[in-house]
Formats: sequence, C-alpha cells, structure tokens
Amino acid sequence: MSHYRYARRAEVLGKSVFDHAPGAIILNSGLAHPPLLPNVAREAARAAEERTAEVMQYGPLMGLDDLRDAVAAFVFEDGVHCERDNILITNGAKHGVDLACRVFVEPGDRVILSAPTYMTSMQHMRTHGASFLAIPQDEEGLMTDVLETKLERLAANGERMPKLLFDVPDFHNPTGITMSLRRRKRLIELAMVYGFVILEDDPYRRVRFEGESIPPLKALDESGVVFALGTVSKVLSPGLRLGWVIGEPNAVRRMAMQKSEGGSCPFAQRIVVDLMRSNRMAEHIDLIAAKMREHRDVMVEALARELPDAVVRPPQGGYFLWAELPEGVSGEAVADRAVEHGVEVSSGRLSFPEDDPGNFLRFAYSYPDKNEIAEGIRRLGLAYREVRAQA
Ligand SMILES: Cc1ncc(COP(=O)(O)O)c(C=O)c1O
Repeated sequence: MSHYRYARRAEVLGKSVFDHAPGAIILNSGLAHPPLLPNVAREAARAAEERTAEVMQYGPLMGLDDLRDAVAAFVFEDGVHCERDNILITNGAKHGVDLACRVFVEPGDRVILSAPTYMTSMQHMRTHGASFLAIPQDEEGLMTDVLETKLERLAANGERMPKLLFDVPDFHNPTGITMSLRRRKRLIELAMVYGFVILEDDPYRRVRFEGESIPPLKALDESGVVFALGTVSKVLSPGLRLGWVIGEPNAVRRMAMQKSEGGSCPFAQRIVVDLMRSNRMAEHIDLIAAKMREHRDVMVEALARELPDAVVRPPQGGYFLWAELPEGVSGEAVADRAVEHGVEVSSGRLSFPEDDPGNFLRFAYSYPDKNEIAEGIRRLGLAYREVRAQA
C-alpha cells in the first residue's frame, strides 16, 4: 500500500537516524567506544545455566528485585537514599523519559527544558504533545532566576502551569555544563512552590575527568518532587538496554503500568546484577572515564587548531562537547558541508526547543579513537573554512 494514513507524529522520517555514510567519522552520536564494550560471556553463561527459569521468563514489571537492590546501593554512593519500592527498572533512560511523559504529560501541557537540551528527550516529549518553556543556561546551569520570572508571569496571567521539568544536571548534553549546588537547591524550591516534578537525567555523573562532584537533585529532594533517571548505557554498554527511574513508589508503579513491553529483559538484568555486585562495573567506569578524558583532550586541541574562532568550554566529564561559532556562521551549513568531507557532526539546531541562535555545533567524542577524532576535526576544519569563505 503506497498511501498510508500516518499519525502526525510519524510524518517525519529523519535519515541520519538510520544510516551513517560509508567511511564517515562519527562525531554526532554518543555511541560507546567499541574497544571498551565489556565482554560479559561469563556473566551471560552463568545466568543462562544457573537461572534459566528466571532469565527465559517474562521479567517482573518493576524489574528484578536483585537489580533494584543493586541500583539502590549504586546511587547510595551519590547520597541518594532509596528503597527497592522507589525503583523501576526500564529499558534505558530514554524509556524512563517516555514513561514519565505517559504518566505526567497530557497533550498541550508545558514542559520546562533548558535551551539547549538533550534532543532525543525533547523528541519524546513532542510525541506526547508537550509544549515547551525554554530556559537559558549559563556556566551554573539552568538559570533559575529566569525560570522564576517566567513562572510568576504565567501564574499572574492565569495560564496553564508547567507540570514537568527535564534537565541533565551533570555534564549536560549538549553543553557539558554541570549545575551548581545553589541552582539545584533553588530548582527544588521552585518545583515545590509551583507544583511541577523534576525529571533528572544523569547518565554521565560517573564519567568525571576532574572537579568535585555535586549531590544529585534526588539526594537533595526531601519531598518527592524529583524523579531520577539512570542508565548503564554510558558506564557499561548501551546494548544491554537497561536503566531505571527512582521516585515516589506510587508514581513509579504508575509508570510501570504504562510499559508496553511488559518488563525489561531479565537476561540482561541478571548480567548487570552480576557486574554490579562483583565490582566489575566500578572498574569499568574508571576505564571509561580515563579514555573519555583522553578523547576530550584530543578534540579540544584539534578544535583550537581547526576552528580557532569558535568558543569551546571543555567539559569536566561526559561524552559531549558544544561549540559556538562566530555570529552569522551557520552550524547547519557547516554540519551539512562536513558530511561531504566524511565527518558527521550535529547542528545545534536539533538541541534547541524553540529559537535556534543558528551558530552552534554539538560533538560527541565517545565513539571514535583518538586518531579518528583528530582526523574528523581536520575534515570539519575544511568544511568550516569553505562555509566561512561563502558567508
Ligand atoms: C542526556 C542523555 N540521556 C539519556 C541518554 C540515553 O540513555 P539510554 O541509552 O539509557 O536510553 C543519552 C545518550 O546520549 C543522553 O545523552
């Protein structure tokens, strides 16, 4: 049939989501670095042989109790005190975003986002019919004073108040910024005063290169306004497709009821329990952080050489780097031209909920090796100079 009557949300069919050009250097995706993907043969064999009835069965809706307990122990290291009942196992953090939207967001509801923000979460929210209240960031993260002014104005005008705020407080995607402690505290106060919940997406927290860690919002939350998303994607393997939501038990059970797959894969869950309990995960995180730090350094150095007039703030952790091009130089044009030179980067446009300033680029340094990063940025430099020459 050639004329399907698609739902509106399915009308757009982006091509970069499916394919990378042959031979292209991939700097536009937070894929894991292949040499660091863990070999879980032992854990998988143990699960298959010793726990057949568990791992070949449907998984429990909330996740395996052993994994929920292991997650509780993992986040306790960050000062988050929670019980098994607070934890829902999901198929990754993005799944948690989707479930939170299913539970909290009606079409037309407002969601507060930083501008820019994590593009894929924004896409999920659009699918749920959310409209956005975009709040700028500075070096301390989401600007809570701007948020407060906007909330005051909405309330004074009797407008629909936002129900949900989404942010990435540590090593933000795309900007790499970490939110300060005072902003974290203020955000929680505002959530309590204005009655919205905070969805804290924190996949990069343990991928730290330098600097002191700041407590997660969930560790500062005494009233249950924060729902914390976690994932093994950035610290172990995205292929395992496992993450979690931590929050008030009744609300996370509602999220569980919204799952369409019935429960995350118990086989993958048992492997992760084993990795968490045996300390292999902790060791793996150290390897990833050390490698990502090297990648960041190579990329920052190469950008200084190839795009000397771009503003780059080296992130202290995470997978992503954000660059501001001189005003009037189009990030989109540079990204498009870069594909012709065999390197893929993201235009900043994809990360802005509404008005795109036009002159930003997002880079991921996680997937390629150091030589590829240097070569990728060299190719980007060619594209950049061509676009500048035409501007
Ligand atoms: C901020 C943020 N959240 C979530 C994810 C993906 O999480 P998951 O693989 O657990 O769905 C990413 C991946 O790039 C990310 O940058």
